[in-house]
Amino acid sequence: MEFHDRIQRELGAMQSADRYRTIPSVAGRLGRHITIGEERLLNLSSNDYLGLGDDPVLRSAWLEAAGADLPPMSSSSSRLLTGNHPLAEALEAELSALYGGRAAMLFNSGYHANTGILPALAGRHDLVLSDRLNHASIIDGLKISDANWKRYRHLDCDHLEEMLQEARGKRRQCFIVSESIFSMDGDLVDLKRLVELKKRYGAILILDEAHAVGTLGQEGLGLAEQEGLGGEVDIIVGTFGKAFASTGAYAIMAPLLREYLVNTARPFIFTTAIPPVMLSWSLWTLRRQTGMQLERESLQALASKLRTSLQRQGFTVPGESHIVPVYAGANSRAVAMAEALRKNGFLALPVRPPTVPQNTARIRISLRATLRWEDVEGVARVLGEVA
Ligand SMILES: Cc1ncc(COP(=O)(O)O)c(C=O)c1O
Repeated sequence: MEFHDRIQRELGAMQSADRYRTIPSVAGRLGRHITIGEERLLNLSSNDYLGLGDDPVLRSAWLEAAGADLPPMSSSSSRLLTGNHPLAEALEAELSALYGGRAAMLFNSGYHANTGILPALAGRHDLVLSDRLNHASIIDGLKISDANWKRYRHLDCDHLEEMLQEARGKRRQCFIVSESIFSMDGDLVDLKRLVELKKRYGAILILDEAHAVGTLGQEGLGLAEQEGLGGEVDIIVGTFGKAFASTGAYAIMAPLLREYLVNTARPFIFTTAIPPVMLSWSLWTLRRQTGMQLERESLQALASKLRTSLQRQGFTVPGESHIVPVYAGANSRAVAMAEALRKNGFLALPVRPPTVPQNTARIRISLRATLRWEDVEGVARVLGEVA
């Protein structure tokens, strides 16, 4: 009984700190809207940044192309056993071609990629330097690796450089790991500077582009593509679950690293591979998104207009991407802001510690290329009234 009492107490503590989570009962998602219970709301909390996931026409076209020959619904084992499929190789070949001939490797999710790559590559003689606001999957990868690791202040390349200097000659290898668009702040890393630092200090640079693929770059390949620095980043991680509207993830790297990871990355080796049916859909959405430059531009323009209008209301709205965080400070204030939005037909969820640092609870608005200004202009007004 003691065990259950403790669990009950801890849940109670989460509730009183406004940190308690429940799974919403989503009745349906269609286009720009989501239905939760009886409520139909404008969905401002989706990572389907290009609107491909909620596009019934795209889905029908894919089904029609697949015809009666729908690929298998399961891989039934790891790719290293009997779970490989020509579609996995085709998807990797397509990614490899897009990324200028570098090797591509699929993972079942971004979480799998981040908890697989770092522990495989960095050992106890190495040091990993990680941005303080990196995603939980990167932190978990660090925690299960044998490597030493430290966090540098968010986006602070001077702090990172101090750490690189201090480690010089003392470690077998230094790694730098960062997101490109930060998932909770919507701000962008200074990739040029990271590349300079990695070269100067002989470090290996790993860039998580989960929120940038589909939204940045001529072909939607992320910040590295936009900055023309793709070839300089040792490992780029991209996910299929967000703008690419599917499931799974990939990493881009040198063929030698791929060969090593195939042999050592545990979340690649010890899991059933992505179902071929989903690989087929990923190929479909990947091809579709490469030509969506106009949608990417309108998404960025919408984000910048919303940011400006929220800032005019006096809100702190950091970042410069389609992820628009509106700072609330206290957890209870973030919850009140989310409730007010919901009463007015908008779904934008509050994000609270431990997902973000203490006292920086916020509303995270993630915009999509399918939204127009008329859809979101009420957001600033509603939040202004709460304030
Ligand atoms: C920066 C970042 N990396 C990785 C992931 C995990 O990706 P996936 O949802 O494919 O597991 C996320 C998901 O939220 C993310 O925000």
